[in-house]
Amino acid sequence: MIGDATTPVTITGLGAYAPERVLTNAELETLVDTSDEWIIERTGIRERRIASDEQALTDLAMPGCETALAQAGLTGKDIDLLIVATVTPDMSFPSSSAMLADKLGATSAGAYDLSAGCTGFVYALVQAYGMLASGLANRALVVGGDVLSRILDWNDRSTLVLFGDGAGAVVLERSEEPGFLALDLGADGSGGEHLWLPGSGSRIMEGADRYAKMNGREVFKFATRILVQSANDVLARAGFTIDDVDVYIPHQANVRIIDHATKKLGIPSDRVVINVDRYGNTSSGSIPLALAEAQVDGRLQPGKLVLMTGMGAGLTWGSTLMRWTLPA
Ligand code: ACO
Repeated sequence: MIGDATTPVTITGLGAYAPERVLTNAELETLVDTSDEWIIERTGIRERRIASDEQALTDLAMPGCETALAQAGLTGKDIDLLIVATVTPDMSFPSSSAMLADKLGATSAGAYDLSAGCTGFVYALVQAYGMLASGLANRALVVGGDVLSRILDWNDRSTLVLFGDGAGAVVLERSEEPGFLALDLGADGSGGEHLWLPGSGSRIMEGADRYAKMNGREVFKFATRILVQSANDVLARAGFTIDDVDVYIPHQANVRIIDHATKKLGIPSDRVVINVDRYGNTSSGSIPLALAEAQVDGRLQPGKLVLMTGMGAGLTWGSTLMRWTLPA
């Protein structure tokens, strides 16, 4: 689906958090047959953050939620919609969103979790936009985060080196000036087996364990194609070109994937936010972590045209194009 954002809705608060524990490539060399050189050359990742044994998803999400609410000048009780995008909730139920709503005092909020792989945060943004635009909700807290370290096989070098833990959150409210301009979501379940966690649900599968499996080459091909396609679709829908984009925030999976998309789209590299080198791929945490970093370093100024594109398990993808309105 793709659509124009005809009702003005914008981001009024933003925050993110990654756990303190840094896991370097050098440490990974002691765990599996890999090298700092290979990881940097193939992925651009130098280190990632790993949750402590005491930290679950809601613990990683809380600091970003608190910062986002404070920026928006709101408290939990002002929120009437809370969506958590994740594939690693604290547990299957109760939902992490209900747990977070309780911790934040969001007693008036409808709260649910949303699963769309690494695209989860963009899916949740689009969902929240729709709820606000229709008048069903007034103030939404959208959380994206994952604790992928819990679903990795720590003996499998092909996945272990790529991922990390982190989370972020944004507040969405209706506004005078638009905010969101166009939104795109997509899914192609025929590629589901290229990135999956087969032993995690009601399907009984022989030999399935509780670890994420990935066909890296297929995901790479999909990622490089879809990042470009979804970005171009949303730009065309809103009547812009890539030259108009001031800040491009692609899903942080791999520097090679981002470089490929950047070249194909034809956007100068100084307009592209990259932090995968320090966090790895944090799935639904990826875009809000990058967004929060761009806010802190001053790249997100009112009036800037911001393009965000996610892609991931499903296989899924999604983009939002927005005029940034939040004061720096
Ligand atoms: N260290 C050293 N060697 C390794 C490692 C490692 N960590 N992992 C794989 N290799 C080896 C392979 O075994 C292979 O060896 P061989 O030639 O003897 O068979 C060799 O390196 C090359 O392997 P390729 O898979 O061809 O390497 P490639 O250049 O494709 O890079 C990578 C692999 C980094 C996984 C790449 O395919 C990729 O980035 N894919 C996309 C991954 C991704 O973005 N996933 C997340 C999507 S979003 C989401 O929803 C989670």
